[in-house]
Amino acid sequence: MGPAGQRRVLAGAFLLLLAVNGGHAQNPATATPLPAQAAPGAQQQDCDQKAAPAAPGPVKAVIVNDTAVNVLWLPPEGGGCVTSFKVSARAVSGGGAAPAPQTVNGGLSATFAGLKSGGIYEFSVAPAGPAGAGPAVTSRAALPPAQLDAVPDAPDAFDAVALSDTRANLSWARPPGNPKVDSYSITAVPANATGFPLPNAKNLTFTAKGDARSLVADGLAPNSYYVFTIVSKSARGTSPEPAVSFHNTPPRGGAIPAAPRGVSAAPAGQGAVALQWQAPAGSQPDYYQLGITEVDASGNPLSETNTIPYANTSALVRDLTPGSTYKFDVQSYSTSFESGRSADYQYTVPATYQPPPNAPRLQPPGLAARIYGSDVELVWEQVYGAQYYIVTTYDAYSGRSLGVQYRVQGNTLAIAGLPLGTDVEVVVQAFGAGGYGPPSSIVVELPVPDYYYPATYSPYYGYNPYLPYWYSSYYPVGWYNAFFPRRTVFFGVIIVINPFNNFCGSPR
Ligand SMILES: *[C@@H]1O[C@H](CO)[C@@H](O)[C@H](O)[C@H]1NC(C)=O
Ligand SMILES: *[C@@H]1O[C@H](CO)[C@@H](O)[C@H](O)[C@H]1NC(C)=O
Ligand SMILES: *[C@@H]1O[C@H](CO)[C@@H](O)[C@H](O)[C@H]1NC(C)=O
Ligand SMILES: *[C@@H]1O[C@H](CO)[C@@H](O)[C@H](O)[C@H]1NC(C)=O
Ligand SMILES: *[C@@H]1O[C@H](CO)[C@@H](O)[C@H](O)[C@H]1NC(C)=O
Repeated sequence: MGPAGQRRVLAGAFLLLLAVNGGHAQNPATATPLPAQAAPGAQQQDCDQKAAPAAPGPVKAVIVNDTAVNVLWLPPEGGGCVTSFKVSARAVSGGGAAPAPQTVNGGLSATFAGLKSGGIYEFSVAPAGPAGAGPAVTSRAALPPAQLDAVPDAPDAFDAVALSDTRANLSWARPPGNPKVDSYSITAVPANATGFPLPNAKNLTFTAKGDARSLVADGLAPNSYYVFTIVSKSARGTSPEPAVSFHNTPPRGGAIPAAPRGVSAAPAGQGAVALQWQAPAGSQPDYYQLGITEVDASGNPLSETNTIPYANTSALVRDLTPGSTYKFDVQSYSTSFESGRSADYQYTVPATYQPPPNAPRLQPPGLAARIYGSDVELVWEQVYGAQYYIVTTYDAYSGRSLGVQYRVQGNTLAIAGLPLGTDVEVVVQAFGAGGYGPPSSIVVELPVPDYYYPATYSPYYGYNPYLPYWYSSYYPVGWYNAFFPRRTVFFGVIIVINPFNNFCGSPR
């Protein structure tokens, strides 16, 4: 949790305390309730108009940032009526002139902004009522020093998202350690599909102010790939290395893709469903994101949503609970816009699967595989009644679909570009007479390369060899090798357990 989060929790805990204490009645012996708007937080039921208020409850000074403090307090327990609180601040050290006091008559907090970073302040809260002021309670806060005066690193969380075919929104977070930054310098480097800079291409440069967190880069070429780099600059110097983000622009006139059409489901075995949909009209998605959620009769979720990137417009989904209802959400996904519209379809999996009378009865016998690097050659024996075969692939460890399926007329299939270093389960089912036969499956162990990402790796040079080929083409690793030539792209096999973790490498 970041410091901001901690602060929120702290303030939240304090407010909780306030709610509990605020519920207690004041002195029940005294009379005359105050108008609610006088101090609503205090919820004064009855109080003494003729007595001065008692001291407020504990006062807390919560640091908002290096120049602001939020002062919170609890109402007095007992004593005279309260109509307002006077909150004053004074600098104990390093804080310069005292900020103007504030009068709060509708709450239990006050914010002091424009304080000096690094200063220590004392805040005092005194209640006031018709019979005069009550005693004050104080609290101190030491503000953190101003931004670090050091050479800034590159900003965190640098990302580029297309806004149109020629514009991208670049966004980032402050560099780690909160250094002082005067400006950010951004370069859009035209690249090829695997992220290598194009020879003789012209870079585009942009500058953003030190307090900016995003910039719209205009003048990009449609249907192109860019490596965006960003460095932080201050009087102390420029960040030694850039943060980089690889992104494509949509085709000319491209837009966020519309929802897929005609999503439908049919039973495909015990606890298995064959989903189908059509591509949307207009801008074409790069792939689909299939979200699977178990729901109750009113459509409320009963499970987390399992999201699987999917290459095709049909998907065999297995391991569902017979008799349960699922919501299948199919999103048309554009990698350049990082967005797309979706359509959903609710479906109850039949309690028992009844294959159509003439559907294939047998699982394909003799399923065997030969492995060549990331390529696999499969062969099986034909099954009576098969019109064709559907071959699906899963990560054997997690059971997660690799998001691609093949339709085969014969009894062999070569699959190229399976994720290296993983065990892949290949499932073959015959289809005929409107139904699916029982599945055969085999687990293929794909080799881990001798060392991480050899430059001579072929034929997928530049692509992420630990992701299925169709998917890794959207998240290549080439740019990393080109921009950090002295480094290897490190993919711990452990990190790759889930083949769709969007992990594109980090420098080592
Ligand atoms: C600090 O917080 C105050 C109050 O929320 C705000 O007015 C001020 O802009 C903030 N300063 C910075 C540097 O974020
Ligand atoms: C760019 O992205 C940032 C961060 O997500 C966002 O705050 C800003 O509104 C975006 N700008 C545009 C023009 O979409
Ligand atoms: C991108 O350029 C690199 C270096 O010239 C090359 O090896 C790679 O094959 C290219 N990628 C594509 C998809 O053309
Ligand atoms: C474009 O920028 C990249 C990265 O900063 C740099 O390596 C390359 O030399 C630049 N190309 C030109 C033509 O300036
Ligand atoms: C699914 O997509 C992959 C990758 O684009 C393709 O090779 C395969 O033929 C498709 N399968 C079907 C059934 O269309």
